[in-house]
Amino acid sequence: MLLLHGPNLNLLGAREPEVYGTETLADHIATASAAAGECGLTVEARQSNHEGELLEAIHGARGRCAAIVVNPGAFTHYAWSLHDALAAFDGPVVEVHLSNPNAREPWRHTSVVAPVATGTIAGFGGLGYRLAIEAVATCLGADRAENETVARPDR
Ligand code: DQA
Repeated sequence: MLLLHGPNLNLLGAREPEVYGTETLADHIATASAAAGECGLTVEARQSNHEGELLEAIHGARGRCAAIVVNPGAFTHYAWSLHDALAAFDGPVVEVHLSNPNAREPWRHTSVVAPVATGTIAGFGGLGYRLAIEAVATCLGADRAENETVARPDR
């Protein structure tokens, strides 16, 4: 699965720690990878400050990655191109935010990603990544069970 981070998230740990905590991006990737390992999933992590690179990462996940966990940073609030790229991805998409954007400035209350996400986890700091992986694993497990029922209707 793809774990994707948007702009400024490379600065986690040093950037506004009172809002985003003291854990670094590497710490969050380690948390997600450990949680994924427990569920039999592997994590491919990408971060970019450039919208086009995030789009290419999403395109590259098509047909290759089972799911996407994405913290789009400030792109969350206006990058419709991310909305469209995620809409073209076939699999669970979990939107994660360390802070709770809905409890912050009004411009953070809109997410253009939320309408194409399977679900959103916000406000739980680094725990959000573990919760996101559990959500992905549950979605993928449910999918697998459904396919098996279809493939073997006698069971
Ligand atoms: C964020 C919330 C966004 O509003 C902000 O622009 C970020 C981080 C979060 O994880 O809380 O860069 O996505």
